[in-house]
Amino acid sequence: MSPFHLTRTLPEDTTDAALRADVREGLTGSPKTLPPKWFYDARGSELFEEITALPEYYPTRAEREILRARAGEIAAASGARTLVELGSGSSEKTRHLIDALTGLHTYVPVDVSESALTLAGRALAAERPGLDVHALIADFTARLTLPDTPGPRLVAFLGGTIGNLLPAERAAFLASVRALLDPGDALLLGTDLVKDERVLVRAYDDAAGVTAAFNKNVLTVINRELGADFDPGAFDHVALWDAGHEWIEMRLRSRTAQTVKIPSLGLVVDFAAGEELRTEVSAKFRQDGVREELSAAGLEPARWWTDGEARFALSLSVAR
Ligand code: AVJ
Repeated sequence: MSPFHLTRTLPEDTTDAALRADVREGLTGSPKTLPPKWFYDARGSELFEEITALPEYYPTRAEREILRARAGEIAAASGARTLVELGSGSSEKTRHLIDALTGLHTYVPVDVSESALTLAGRALAAERPGLDVHALIADFTARLTLPDTPGPRLVAFLGGTIGNLLPAERAAFLASVRALLDPGDALLLGTDLVKDERVLVRAYDDAAGVTAAFNKNVLTVINRELGADFDPGAFDHVALWDAGHEWIEMRLRSRTAQTVKIPSLGLVVDFAAGEELRTEVSAKFRQDGVREELSAAGLEPARWWTDGEARFALSLSVAR
């Protein structure tokens, strides 16, 4: 068995404090919003795994196709001895990369979910004797401190999750990733691409209703964690394409005029009939835009790969 370490950089109660602050801010503002990170309790993570297997939800399959085809090229271009994966989840797609990185010494999966980290991390450490697995419980949108491991480093941020950030947040995030790197270290970034509106909307409004359940699950999380009395059945799932911003928005639309109580925040929230609560932005990208954002953060675009249908892209950029 190779070594498995787990480091908690998030105090257990920060999650609770952050949820409370986000719910108070998001539900007292206008329009109402909630950040998408609160989808992912155990049930939400399960529903997301289901989404990735839906016929309409192409990003996971498209990215896996690229990783399968290009892992050797990515590995050769980076020569990484340390692989850091932000939002690693089940680490499933990363296996291809880990297998291709022949000189890999340490894998650092970073996630807010301790259960996902322990499960994936232990399995990997057992499968890859000699590989050091140093899991970090951390919020990658906050300041990160990485363990002292050998370079060069490759930071992977896959799945298109960067699309959950608004443009200004993306700039700050990419700058903070750049700050983790030494010159010559690399970032492997997964971005979903702009495409036909119908294809995009279907991916976020599937026929089986799994995405609708995933969206409404955030209300269940708030009920459980903050004692709120949301009735998820009193909201409709909405997915729409914002052509100006080139992003998908998920919203929950109140079916009727209703009042929701959130006792642990001392908050009463009124919804008008038809009022919408924005729960997620999922930005879609073009190659030029990705290149510009990387360059602005001090990351030199080096490689760009897409799947056969050009639905999704992986880019490799190098710290200047
Ligand atoms: C995990 C953020 C990449 O935006 O496509 C899937 C989440 N939301 N279906 C995405 C999601 C609705 C997903 N990311």
